[in-house]
Amino acid sequence: MFIKLSTSQFGYQRHLKKQMQGMSAPVLTRDDLRLRLDQLTGSDMSAVHDVLVRQFRNPSEFVQEVCDHVARYQGKRIRPVLLVLSARLCGVCPRQLPKVYSLGAVVEMIHTATLVHDDVVDDADMRRHVSTVHRRWNVETSVLLGDYLFSKAFHLAATTGDAEACRLIGRATDRTCEGELNQIAARLERSASERDYFRVIGGKTGQLFSVSCLLGARSAEAPAWQQVQLRQFGMRLGLAFQIADDLLDLTESSDMTGKDAANDLENGRLTLPLLRALQIADDDERLSLREALLSDHSVSRLLADHPSLQQGIDSARASAEELVARAIRNLQRFPASDERQLMEAIASFAVQRSG
Ligand code: IPE
Ligand code: IPE
Ligand code: MG
Ligand code: MG
Repeated sequence: MFIKLSTSQFGYQRHLKKQMQGMSAPVLTRDDLRLRLDQLTGSDMSAVHDVLVRQFRNPSEFVQEVCDHVARYQGKRIRPVLLVLSARLCGVCPRQLPKVYSLGAVVEMIHTATLVHDDVVDDADMRRHVSTVHRRWNVETSVLLGDYLFSKAFHLAATTGDAEACRLIGRATDRTCEGELNQIAARLERSASERDYFRVIGGKTGQLFSVSCLLGARSAEAPAWQQVQLRQFGMRLGLAFQIADDLLDLTESSDMTGKDAANDLENGRLTLPLLRALQIADDDERLSLREALLSDHSVSRLLADHPSLQQGIDSARASAEELVARAIRNLQRFPASDERQLMEAIASFAVQRSG
């Protein structure tokens, strides 16, 4: 979604340049961000896209059809965008760009594999505005397609010949899967803590964001301090991104997000807004809210009957914003540049987005 626009109005560029002069915090509108992303990473992302298209090509008609389903309906591609921007921020040399594009495709394929499996786990109907793979075909197709995408991603990573990159990707994927597994234990009925919640989202979402930024920095042979800052930037942004996603589950329609509304609620997932609402509520209210959350999946009714839910939503949003502010601080030691400004803007929009 970020990279799909293609506009290049000269006057507009000048206006943006002027707006950026002497500025450290991003003051970009959503459209400015899309335009700037297209200008700065458009050709990199179309190279990543070409790698993905090649990876999804298959002589079997059925395999091709299934791959086309997930390839055609692409998402925001935020992980490869972050990988490319991190590489450029650290001054990657042109010789390394093919590797950057392969690694960008690797992280997007791993992400897509986790979504295909996650939709089975969450019994979801819709993904990226179309039917999930298990609804369009069946669960066996989803399980095997997810496996296939993971395996293809690791195979592609190995072709870079960078053993350390492969190790980092393998470790991040382990932790992503651990996050999804731990989520099973952290259900509403079992009263999970905030600490459990952060362990889950740090695994299932933070790890892939973090390794994407780190791989970008490594491709540029960035000094250790830059790698540390970018790895941490990715983790903090990933946490904020997942909290925002958990808020969208409660606050947005499926038309906006392209996926099932209130799916977490239906699955009894104890997300941060709910955890905070239960913390804020007094003893009686806590009991009735907990019961209502287990049986009633209408957000508007829950909000009307339980004022602490809105307070929980506000509190979770404030935490996501705080994480974004901390992520942006990780970029402070990098010299001012277009890449840095865009990464700051992406971080800000990660919490303000509606899909
Ligand atoms: C969805 O990720 C899963 C989460 C980690 C919240 P994205 O919101 O990046 O999904 P797409 O790729 O844009 O569809
Ligand atoms: C899953 O989290 C994130 C993964 C790493 C698979 P969610 O279950 O909240 O993601 P969505 O809402 O289905 O995209
Ligand atoms: Mg899900
Ligand atoms: Mg979600």
